[in-house]
Amino acid sequence: MTETPMAPQHLPAARPAGCPFDPPAGLARLRERSALTRMEFPDGHHGWLATGYSVVRAVLADPRFSHRNDRRHWPLADIGQGLPPIPGDMLHLDRPEHTRYRRLLASRFTMRRMRRFTDVITEIVAARLDAMRHRGGPVELVEVFARPIPMLSVCELLGVPPEDRDRFTPHVRPDRGGAEELPTTFVDMGFTAMQDYFRDLAATRRTTPADDLLSDLATSGDFPDDELAGLAAIMLLAGVESTTSMLSLGVFALLTHPDQLTALRARPELADRAVEELMRYLSVVHTGARAALVDVELAGQVVKAGETVALSLQSANRDPARFDAPDELDIGRVPGGHLGFGSGIHPCLGKELARIEMRVAFPALFDRFPTLRLVDPEDIEMRDPSDNVYGVRQLHVTW
Ligand code: HEM
Repeated sequence: MTETPMAPQHLPAARPAGCPFDPPAGLARLRERSALTRMEFPDGHHGWLATGYSVVRAVLADPRFSHRNDRRHWPLADIGQGLPPIPGDMLHLDRPEHTRYRRLLASRFTMRRMRRFTDVITEIVAARLDAMRHRGGPVELVEVFARPIPMLSVCELLGVPPEDRDRFTPHVRPDRGGAEELPTTFVDMGFTAMQDYFRDLAATRRTTPADDLLSDLATSGDFPDDELAGLAAIMLLAGVESTTSMLSLGVFALLTHPDQLTALRARPELADRAVEELMRYLSVVHTGARAALVDVELAGQVVKAGETVALSLQSANRDPARFDAPDELDIGRVPGGHLGFGSGIHPCLGKELARIEMRVAFPALFDRFPTLRLVDPEDIEMRDPSDNVYGVRQLHVTW
């Protein structure tokens, strides 16, 4: 007997009560029925939703699918759908333009180069821990720890001078003793202002280079000014919110899984595995999308040219067909294969940087504050499910 075809589904968004780390329950229900389901997008487009690991991974690697904003529909709150590509926004380019970016950037984001950055990140983390100690608990961890670390790391990578980081500090709160506060995020400047800023900085670096990524790119002549400015702005956009969320949600997850935290404390050599497992389990960048450029046969269905496939990275990372006991956080798990940093054509360019930040920050935090605990575990406000990045809004902790 053949199953009745399902009406197009909306993207499940409601997370199960009581477990802020589990994906919306509706995703698992759809995945059990089929790895690829018809879906109605927020703008009314009738496309597809991929929930199974193999299908999501296959689409991410398939050049017959496009990631351009003006080709694909977006399954979450609108982030510029329909707009032509912004110069430098490599994530939303297809071949051959995207290949050129990857070729030119891959050699500048090597694991070796990023590892040389470990000392800088260790200093950044230590300074944030000092600031926490100085302020005394309770503190709001996103503000004092989880956001400044990636923000300052990407600034260091690009070579944003310290005095400019302060220039973008509209959030300094006089009531908290301004000097000790850090910029909340460049993102608040708005994308155009960020581009303008980096266009000027790149021009300066071209004539007076320093030892940083922007100088390297500006003097290479590989990118025209507008692409360079967009690329730097995209690094901040892509690199800050995602890592902020991983650091804060990761601390929340470890504090509420004391057995895992105890294991990590007892065996610091597990830090690398713990980071990979948290990436899989939390999947903060939870959803992507691609549009078919031609008809594509996928999971026994035909995705027609022009149709968009929403890609549930969080569902793929919890697929029991790929991971044993996928809903358990197990930092001893042999890592590998998760899609938390994407995969295929657009895998995360900054993944080594993000990994180093997490590998340094988690152990250092729990080392410095062994009695760290949540102030009000029952009352933690989570981000809106339609945000591109999942996580906590705030995380009040004390020790
Ligand atoms: C834990 C932190 C991070 C997470 C979870 C994350 C996640 C991701 C994911 C899932 C993608 C692929 C999206 C897709 O295919 O639709 C991606 C791409 C990208 N990420 Fe990250 N990312 C993180 C940190 C960073 C950092 C620190 C940087 C830069 C400094 C960065 C820069 C990029 C760029 C430029 C791309 C586009 C790559 C391309 O188009 O080839 N990310 N990231």
